[in-house]
Amino acid sequence: MIEVIFIFIKVDKVTKYYGSRLILDGISLEVEKGEFLTLLGSSGCGKTTLLNSIAGLTNIDSGEISVNESVWSKKKYTMPTEHRNIGMVFQDFALWPHLTVFDNIAFALKLKKDKKYTKEKISQRIEEVLDVVQMNGYQRYYPHQLSGGQKQRIAVARALAPNPFFLLMDEPLSSLDAKMRERMRWELLEIVKGAQITTIYVTHDQIEALSMSDNIILLNGGKIEQEGTPVQLFKNPKTEFAANFLGASNLIQGKLLDIKEEKMLIDCNGFNIITKPIDDVKEFLDIRIHPSDILINSEYEGESTKLTGIIKQRAFQGSSWQYKIKLVATENIYLEVFSRIEKPIDSEVDLCLPASSCHVVSRIA
Ligand SMILES: Nc1ncnc2c1ncn2[C@@H]1O[C@H](COP(=O)(O)OP(=O)(O)OP(=O)(O)O)[C@@H](O)[C@H]1O
Ligand SMILES: [Mg+2]
Repeated sequence: MIEVIFIFIKVDKVTKYYGSRLILDGISLEVEKGEFLTLLGSSGCGKTTLLNSIAGLTNIDSGEISVNESVWSKKKYTMPTEHRNIGMVFQDFALWPHLTVFDNIAFALKLKKDKKYTKEKISQRIEEVLDVVQMNGYQRYYPHQLSGGQKQRIAVARALAPNPFFLLMDEPLSSLDAKMRERMRWELLEIVKGAQITTIYVTHDQIEALSMSDNIILLNGGKIEQEGTPVQLFKNPKTEFAANFLGASNLIQGKLLDIKEEKMLIDCNGFNIITKPIDDVKEFLDIRIHPSDILINSEYEGESTKLTGIIKQRAFQGSSWQYKIKLVATENIYLEVFSRIEKPIDSEVDLCLPASSCHVVSRIA
């Protein structure tokens, strides 16, 4: 059995410099008990630096990292990693090649220097964590006798063995091939959710982040660009960067025409779009709508905008078609649409943009 220890992690205005380069720029975040939080961002944005700061492998220049209200890191103070009771899983698995599966995990337990880990207790614990990752029976194998996915499961078992407060994982699936990566996404999630262990997960892969996380923090240049649930980030990216990072999103620029309690009308130069009203509305507005939220030839009955378009490009994606559609009402506005409906190039289609899917932000003109 995995002992469930509930933990609350707080990162408060953390900054980190390497030389004169600001790598973490005032990062604040909180991780709830049992949460699966993902740090998402492109290479060099500071994901590993932030994770290592939480692990105590990197010191911070200002701000504070605390766990259950006890301070783990602040300026000029870094509690040693071995006192933090955390489990870490790395991209390259970091298993000892000359040790068997049993000894790799036993090594992590012996590091704890906990008297309760007698020889017998160690064997028992190893069996328990190998059960969790469905690798019981592999005790005598060496890492080179295991597949990539199996090695990663052993790395997770080793991290879980000492009953850590929480798990930190840095790109744990990125060295696996695409098929194995997809399978391991499910398996990892099942393991950490089964163990109810609070997890901070680092990846640059938006599919991994969207499919596994309770919450995502999108980092850009050492700052938090946007945070929220996978659905919030995917459907309603607040900035150009977030929209691009999370996959295509349509952006239409417009001007406020009318606002009522339940809806807003926006003039988009040749056609109008109906949206839900927002607080703090300015004259110039940006409307974002995700390609999968635009409906083709639909009988949608809720509040919506109906437009006509011509299909200019299409690509088959397996479960849907991806279209580039030129709007008839105006010059030079193309919408990207994902749809199960198959239509040939140059055909005219009716488009429906549900008001509830049109996300509006004020633009500083
Ligand atoms: N020990 C170090 N000394 C100097 N600069 C460093 C050090 N570690 C990281 N950096 C720099 O800090 C920045 C952030 O690095 P970090 O490893 O946190 O990025 P990352 O988001 O994890 O990227 P990746 O996806 O490539 O792993 C990079 O520009 C990197 O060059
Ligand atoms: Mg990294």
